[in-house]
Amino acid sequence: MTEPSPADVDRFIIEKLLAADPVLDAVLAENAAAELPAIDVAPNQGKLLHLLARLSRAQRILEIGTLGGYSTIWLARALPAGGRLVTLELESRHAEVARRNFARAGVREAIDLRVGPALDTLPKLADEGGAPFDFVFVDADKPNNPAYVEWALQLARPGATIIVDNIVRGGRVVDANADDAAVVGTRRLFEQLSAQSRLDATAVQTLGLKGHDGFLIGIVR
Ligand code: SAH
Ligand code: DHB
Ligand code: MG
Repeated sequence: MTEPSPADVDRFIIEKLLAADPVLDAVLAENAAAELPAIDVAPNQGKLLHLLARLSRAQRILEIGTLGGYSTIWLARALPAGGRLVTLELESRHAEVARRNFARAGVREAIDLRVGPALDTLPKLADEGGAPFDFVFVDADKPNNPAYVEWALQLARPGATIIVDNIVRGGRVVDANADDAAVVGTRRLFEQLSAQSRLDATAVQTLGLKGHDGFLIGIVR
């Protein structure tokens, strides 16, 4: 046998531990047909988010960066009856695909999808003064990660879970000379978190279908 790759191991995990899911398969097919970038979380990562939301007993979830709604559907399925998920997306073209996918997955009622730059929709959410969020997943434009985590801390309750995707990016996060705005933004996020104590956080590297990347995971103090 040739040396198994990290992607082979992801496929093994998915085959053994994830139920066949024609709805999520159709969501990915719909995203591909609409020519959305294939940058959704991997299936085993989607299930990780789902399990973490259940472990958090999340009733109100905030997601920043919807794309076609693949991660959104994994998270919405973690909600109890009457739970709500607000998801923020810049591109109306992505949002249209996501709306169709939410209907297909039977989660439309639980989801409040807001279109526009998240730095505009987040202050509006704050102004509305709704109940605080129990769980936040940050997965939009990486240069704004420091600002998104600030907003997450403002909108979440103490004890809430905050997750940030793509915080390793092939290991480039450790490059102090990086000029890629995404890496610079994520490095700034790490600086911000080491300098303040509102988020009790760690980060885990992941290797698999999405290459070498990782999640930052924290609990609001
Ligand atoms: N969470 C999704 C993937 C999101 S990809 C999943 O795993 O299935 C990142 C998304 O963030 C893209 O759809 C992109 O259009 C959106 N985005 C980029 N800049 C944004 C901004 N300023 N505000 C809100 N969304 C943004
Ligand atoms: C990109 C964005 C993501 O959220 C991701 O999971 C992978 C890649 C990107 O912008 O390249
Ligand atoms: Mg991502």
